[in-house]
This record gives sequence, structure tokens and C-alpha cells, in this order.
Amino acid sequence: MAQGEPRDEDESRRKFMLAGAGVLGACVAGITAAPALSMLTHPLRTPTTSGSDAFIPAGKLAQFEGTVPIKVDLYADKVDAWNRVVQVKIGSAWVMQHEDKLVAMSTVCPHLGCAIDFDAEGGKFVCPCHDSYFSLDGAVETGPSPRGMDALEVQTQGELVAIRYQRFRQGTETKEPV
Ligand code: FES
Repeated sequence: MAQGEPRDEDESRRKFMLAGAGVLGACVAGITAAPALSMLTHPLRTPTTSGSDAFIPAGKLAQFEGTVPIKVDLYADKVDAWNRVVQVKIGSAWVMQHEDKLVAMSTVCPHLGCAIDFDAEGGKFVCPCHDSYFSLDGAVETGPSPRGMDALEVQTQGELVAIRYQRFRQGTETKEPV
């Protein structure tokens, strides 16, 4: 071996040191990146809310004293992975007294999701898209809707009425929350 040439031992020690430094660098990078990654992806691991779990104020009880359905729009804060939108309309409901009980029904037609209207002259609900007719209690009278109008949970809080708004699968005979 000529003088000044690296010996095999020195060469393997150098390679070993380089590999060790690489592994150590990767570990340090992993340790520092983990909290940042966790923070960035936190919204994705947080349940999304759209106000559907909460009862949403719908108006004063006095508004709904008659048996004629009153349409109310429901507003809630919408939160998704990175956004929070304050007080957006999440849906509407028909509210009325029926057989001495306050009831609320979704305006979304169970057939294909059009907005259900109230025909004051005929005294029934109607979906204009494919002519489904519903009686005052929400039952299907005629038309392609596979089930009656979807009832929503309603409660009174003092003088106020609050509704738990939910959406349901369309085109099914059974009422399945989505
Ligand atoms: S969407 Fe209502 S009848 Fe078709």
C-alpha cells in the first residue's frame, strides 16, 4: 500500500460514520416533523359538524299556533376541516300544530330531493318536480315519493321553538339519516 492511501479500515469507519449520521438526521427530522404534521392534519381527524346535532332556533311558539304549515329556514355554523362559516342556511322545515302537537317536517322531498311546497287551496303538501302529494301529517297520497315527508325532532325552549335538522337518504322506503 502506498503511503497516504486510505486503509480499508479507515474507509469502512468513514462509511459507518456517514451511515450513522444519516440515520441520526432522519430520526431528528422525524421527531421535529411529527408534531407539525399532527397539527396540520388535526382538522381532518376532528369530526365535522354542520349544526345537525344541535337543536336550531326556528322562531317563537306563537308563530306556529295555527294548523296552517309555516315554512322556516334554519341556520347554523358550518365547520369543515379548515373552515368555519357562521350562520349559513342548512335547510328548511314545515312547522305546524297537528292534532294538538307541534310538528316539523323537512322540506326535502324523499323522492329526489326537490323542495316540497304547501298548496293552501288543496290543504296538502306537494312536490312540483314529479307531482308527489302529501297529506297534512306528511303521508304520501299520490306520486313517486317512496315514503312520507321526513319528520324532524322539534322541541320548545320556553317561548322558543327549536328543530334538530337532519337530511335523509332519498329514494328509499325507510328513513335513513345521512
Ligand atoms: S323529487 Fe319530489 S316527487 Fe320527485
